[in-house]
Amino acid sequence: MSGAKVHREPVERDPVQREPVEREHWNSRAGFVLATIGCAAGLGNIWRFSYVAGENGGAAFLLIYVACIAVLGVPLMLGEFCIGRRAQADAVSSFGSVTRHSAWGVAGWLMVAASCVLLSYYAVIAGWAYKYFAGYLSGVITDTAGGKFADYFNAFVADPFEPVLWQLVVVVSTEVVVVAGVQRGIERFNKILMPLLGATVIVLAGYGLSLDGASKGLTFLFRPDWAALADPAVYFAALGQAFFTLGIGADALLTYGSYAPKGEKLAPAAITVAAGDTLFAVIAGVAIFPAVFAFGLDPAQGPMLAFVTLPEIFSVMPGGWLFANAFFVLLGLAALTSAVSLLEVSCAVLMSRLQWSRRKSAIVMGCVVFAAGVPSALGFGLLAGIQFSGLGILESIDRIASGIVLPIGGLLIALFVGWAWSRTDAIDAAGLPDGSLASAWLFLLRYVSPCLIALIFLWLLFG
Ligand code: TRP
Repeated sequence: MSGAKVHREPVERDPVQREPVEREHWNSRAGFVLATIGCAAGLGNIWRFSYVAGENGGAAFLLIYVACIAVLGVPLMLGEFCIGRRAQADAVSSFGSVTRHSAWGVAGWLMVAASCVLLSYYAVIAGWAYKYFAGYLSGVITDTAGGKFADYFNAFVADPFEPVLWQLVVVVSTEVVVVAGVQRGIERFNKILMPLLGATVIVLAGYGLSLDGASKGLTFLFRPDWAALADPAVYFAALGQAFFTLGIGADALLTYGSYAPKGEKLAPAAITVAAGDTLFAVIAGVAIFPAVFAFGLDPAQGPMLAFVTLPEIFSVMPGGWLFANAFFVLLGLAALTSAVSLLEVSCAVLMSRLQWSRRKSAIVMGCVVFAAGVPSALGFGLLAGIQFSGLGILESIDRIASGIVLPIGGLLIALFVGWAWSRTDAIDAAGLPDGSLASAWLFLLRYVSPCLIALIFLWLLFG
């Protein structure tokens, strides 16, 4: 691009050297934590959590999901943070810069690819939230759906044009935030939004609890059917959901960690983010499942669950229209902050490795993920005939990306921090005191995570 590159010196082959001097950083400690919460909290907590829990028996799933967050999620999140913060570089260079083995760069690339695939269909679902916001605001949903929310949803997603249009709106708004940069765009955006969304979901949960038949929903969500624990599919689903909701395994946390200042305490940040994210999902479950049973809906109806159940609540609750607007605008924005984290991954790689500008990287990657997501957007209408063992395009990609690719990414993080680094390197990168906490963390990364992830894969394959 620039003439300066003509005089490249051999030392530039070291990826760290290619990093621009002025690497961006978070403005404040709270900014880092809030941006990471913005990455974690999104459609995964409401849309994905409710439908995957619904399909996998509710409480049994919840139990394993929470276990996965505690045992695998928090240690791996801290692992990703440290790799990025240590290297102060993009996702691919980060893996190369702290060991001599170039093969680790492949791990970085795999996760960058995962971030693009995830964003391709994430933008489609976020588009549904935007559409519902527009629908409520203009009164179209309340007037035309006439209480038949499933029909309304089905007609919308089957349209050959509308889902793609909303997907495009999401991609463009994501690009706008990414172009604005780390502090002005990503950080500022998350600060006000997250608390507001939390408050709205709490009110909805309160209303859900007041519905007739709420107790059935609570039983479904909190009283495990122990027989379900014998099914490997439940573990597989819980593992995928834990990784998806925390944002592990696609280099997003690594990239955000790379913008963290040296003194930032990473372990408390990881715990805060994981706890907040889990609480958020559980409260969303309390809002959704009582309503599912109160309105006689099927908890296992799949990706449409939240988009059919919540409108039912809004239609009977006092001030429902207002809440519907607040809810969908916040859900759309929460999805946007997560989408931003996914787009930032590949943009950071392009900016530092090809010296592209932020704008150019965001626009090019936005076009790529938009094009890649079109089949997912059309998978409920024009392309509904394309199914893989009974699942449509979007669901199939989601299952493979979150159930398989993200856990593989997590496995690589665990192996990298646990084994490619020395104990001192790892503890130092995490900023932990050398004591029992650090030992427990490394034990989880070295032995527990790889074994558990491998076990769940093997059980699914041969169980
Ligand atoms: N965690 C987000 C959600 O729950 C989605 C997300 C953002 C993500 N960044 C990620 C998922 C990185 C996997 C990897 O909606």
